[in-house]
Amino acid sequence: MAHLLGIGETLVGYDRWAASYDHEPNPLIAATSWVLQSAPLGCADCDVVELGCGTGRNVVRVIGEGARSYTGVDGSGGMLTIATHRFYDPRVTFQKADLLLPWTAPRQYDFGLVCLVLEHLSTLDVLAETLARAVKPGGRIRLVDLHPERVAAGSFAHFHDGQTEVQFASVAHPVASICEALEGAGFDVVRRDWLASDPMISAVPGIQKHRGLKAVLDIKATRRGRMARGSSGY
Ligand SMILES: C[S@@+](CC[C@H](N)C(=O)[O-])C[C@H]1O[C@@H](n2cnc3c(N)ncnc32)[C@H](O)[C@@H]1O
Repeated sequence: MAHLLGIGETLVGYDRWAASYDHEPNPLIAATSWVLQSAPLGCADCDVVELGCGTGRNVVRVIGEGARSYTGVDGSGGMLTIATHRFYDPRVTFQKADLLLPWTAPRQYDFGLVCLVLEHLSTLDVLAETLARAVKPGGRIRLVDLHPERVAAGSFAHFHDGQTEVQFASVAHPVASICEALEGAGFDVVRRDWLASDPMISAVPGIQKHRGLKAVLDIKATRRGRMARGSSGY
């Protein structure tokens, strides 16, 4: 049995997914992990903010790369409850905010991360402006997501709740629109499409059905201003 959530029910859906999010195998989530393993964030010595942090799945990676601090922001109380009970580390904090509304960070960060969130947002301009306020001039951001071509072809976030497959309503933002929103907010953008290639499939066998297709969109961007730490090119 399937249950389709409306776009306005996204956060309620994540409240429901929270308890199993880190345990239910999901090839598209695993594919983003593989991408971040293959092309690390490069956030050593950075104060990092992740928008749409969920259960804090990326905390270990960010802190493991040597970040000075990690702030996770999410709109789902259920996901944040898991996250806050998972980490007892003074470098790691979480905040609740709806990313469809302008969010002003209490401080500015060196690095912003957005992973697997774009399909849930009906518009990207607010997110891009939030990133521009949250990241210092010269600071960098990384967006890693299910490729919009897969969303347009019918892939979407989903999970199982007992016998029910719960499916999220998803928005396929064209890649050009994502880049334009970031550029309009003051970022210089470098984009890469990751195909479901042999190395990705051997690490994530469940991605096999997308073989040869664009599976993950990966954007690196630098906020215009003074020089950033590290490099933004591929
Ligand atoms: C697929 S999860 C990704 C979580 C994490 N970034 C990861 O890589 O595992 C998407 C997250 O985006 C959050 N999200 C979706 N729409 C949101 C909104 N309007 N405001 C805040 N968070 C939102 C959800 O609550 C969920 O935690």
